[in-house]
Amino acid sequence: MNPQKVKNGPNFMQQVNKKKHVDCALSSNSESSDDEVDEIVAIKKDVQKQRFSVSAEAYGQFNKKENFKAKFIPKTKEQSERIKQRMQAGFMFSALNDKEIEIVVGAMEEKIFNKTEYVIKQGEEGNVLYVVDTGELECFKNYGKGDIFLKTYYPGESFGELALLFQSPRAASIIVKSDKAILWQLDRETFNLIVKEASIKKRQQFETFLENWDLLKEIKDPYDKLKMSDALFEKQYKKGDVILQQGQKSNEIFILEQGKVSVNKNNQKLFELIKFGEYFGDQSIVAGTVESFTYVAEEEIKLMYIPKKSYSSTLKEIEGTLIKNIQTKYGKYL
Ligand code: CMP
Repeated sequence: MNPQKVKNGPNFMQQVNKKKHVDCALSSNSESSDDEVDEIVAIKKDVQKQRFSVSAEAYGQFNKKENFKAKFIPKTKEQSERIKQRMQAGFMFSALNDKEIEIVVGAMEEKIFNKTEYVIKQGEEGNVLYVVDTGELECFKNYGKGDIFLKTYYPGESFGELALLFQSPRAASIIVKSDKAILWQLDRETFNLIVKEASIKKRQQFETFLENWDLLKEIKDPYDKLKMSDALFEKQYKKGDVILQQGQKSNEIFILEQGKVSVNKNNQKLFELIKFGEYFGDQSIVAGTVESFTYVAEEEIKLMYIPKKSYSSTLKEIEGTLIKNIQTKYGKYL
């Protein structure tokens, strides 16, 4: 293999959207997933007693009632805690609640791979998703003229979800770069029933936002944009709420979705943010300084935010622009 270290991509988003819309249309009539989860949690309790997997009725994909095997692989407490930590570090599981996380942890299976070993081969059928516990792996994609390096995966990151989300062949290859890699493998059934629904809901929720946020036009790989929705959250504030205080370090980059936010310094209002996509909290996260301003909700507002821990895997790619923007936005008030 002689991979070129460049980054580009085909019109992947179109394929993904097409598939996604089919999937979502098909699943939109399904019954409440909360009920399903409650049912599965009950099963999980039994499973913990019995220490082997059992069956239960649950509504699955395509609105069909199917026999779902709540897979459970016994683990030490320490292993379960480590998986949870890894899951929290990445995006894939960010939409899950505590009950769902327990089920997923129970279903994970440890897999060990050696240096240069293929974990996933592009074009093959895929039935599992992986979370990196230790080691580093590289992702390559062949667009027809040899393998192109796309990215390195580190502990906490996950891959292999596309084949499960869209029932497509593996879209890239993943090879172990370090001497050894310990991965947690999640089966298709648990993924489909627990993770997929939450992930699709979240991606749909933020789809319009991602398509319209100007800043993201610079991100070349549509796959990276798609993944960004997993790192996005939403918060509402009431009139008068202080969102971020001058002199503090922010734990989030906030993005204005709806409403008006005032920017204040030493108790004096300087200007207002009113446009969709205007953002703040970037001084702490991008420039590493404390915030120079206090941000106050001037009415009931809706903000999106990207947690600090997700910055390096989402917006870091456009850090140059973000730093330039700090000067343009605040330069005359600093
Ligand atoms: P999957 O297609 O199941 O298997 C290969 C994995 O590579 C894929 O899921 C993604 O998790 C990961 N991947 C990372 N970057 C890309 C990309 N640009 N296009 C497709 N897959 C990617």
